Amino acid sequence: MIKVLLLPGDGIGPEVIAQAKKVLLHLRSEYNLKIELEEALIGGSAYDDCKNPLPDTTLDLAKSSDAILLGAVGGPKYDNVGRKLRPENGLLRIRAELDLFANLRPAILYKSLAGASSLKPELVADLDIMIVRELTGGIYFGEPRGIRTLENGVRQGFNTLIYDENEVTRIAHVAFRIAQKRNSKLCSVDKANVLEVSELWREVVESVHNNYKDVFLSHMYVDNAAMQLVREPNQFDVVLTGNMFGDILSDAAAMLTGSIGMLPSASLDSNDKGMYEPIHGSAPDIAGKNIANPLATILSIAMMLRYSLEELDLADKVEQAVQQVIANGLRTTDIADKHSAIGTNEMGDAVIDALT
Ligand code: IPM
Ligand code: MG
Repeated sequence: MIKVLLLPGDGIGPEVIAQAKKVLLHLRSEYNLKIELEEALIGGSAYDDCKNPLPDTTLDLAKSSDAILLGAVGGPKYDNVGRKLRPENGLLRIRAELDLFANLRPAILYKSLAGASSLKPELVADLDIMIVRELTGGIYFGEPRGIRTLENGVRQGFNTLIYDENEVTRIAHVAFRIAQKRNSKLCSVDKANVLEVSELWREVVESVHNNYKDVFLSHMYVDNAAMQLVREPNQFDVVLTGNMFGDILSDAAAMLTGSIGMLPSASLDSNDKGMYEPIHGSAPDIAGKNIANPLATILSIAMMLRYSLEELDLADKVEQAVQQVIANGLRTTDIADKHSAIGTNEMGDAVIDALT
């Protein structure tokens, strides 16, 4: 039996996870997917319950599961909570505790939604980029960090951007392997004109490249990469980058598709155990209104089936069902454009109908 842990989290998280749960149960009853579902608290909802955004019970369940499906964490209610207890810290800790170092963030344009992109349609036609972001290192986790008071009484905030060669090597392997399964083009993004850590990053990526000579490797400074993403996004196939650059570039890439409510993501360890989540976040402003788009979460199930559960046919089926629903003109508010919108629940039901 495959154990899947559901972590609804905060904001629209519970609503979109409820739809994903329906889909998983449908795959179990109709397609004989052998899964067992559990549910636990994370983020603000866990903080409300026990003053800890990642309770031990949740972490233990996560460790003993084969895959995790997360909704989203965070909300304005927690703005004044101390850093260690913030909902976001629950997410950062589960990533670190499970060693989920490889974050895959596809940015795909759905043809019929091209009008929603902030760029001209001809620039984003057939857009299909995979951002591979290092997720458990870099400045997010580097020590020392803190806020201190200097001798002259001035306060100073500091963080450390640090990568060792093993961390770069393992994420580079992941990126090259993904590139091999796509169009064999990898662009590694850094700031090697300024930072020593990037100089090492580049050197290590070059040496890992020796194992993947069929992949075309290029390097780009992060400022240029931000510009190129909005200038000519189709030049990219797979983008490899560190934790903070990846955080920023993946939001920009998501916006290019015009459908941030449609994009899933995967965070994997070295055995392909993974946590899967929509990239849209908790969207507290629309929570509880049955208007959130559940498709990114449902597409996260497809990634889970593909990367962690080796159910490639079922992964295709779920993706086709989502395509079908979109082709049929069904839309939630965020992607409605000229269509009339349906609710979160109805969208979940429509995907199940398309799967049947
Ligand atoms: C993301 C988010 C997180 C990050 C936050 C919520 C900690 O922005 O997954 O991109 O910065 O990694
Ligand atoms: Mg982010």
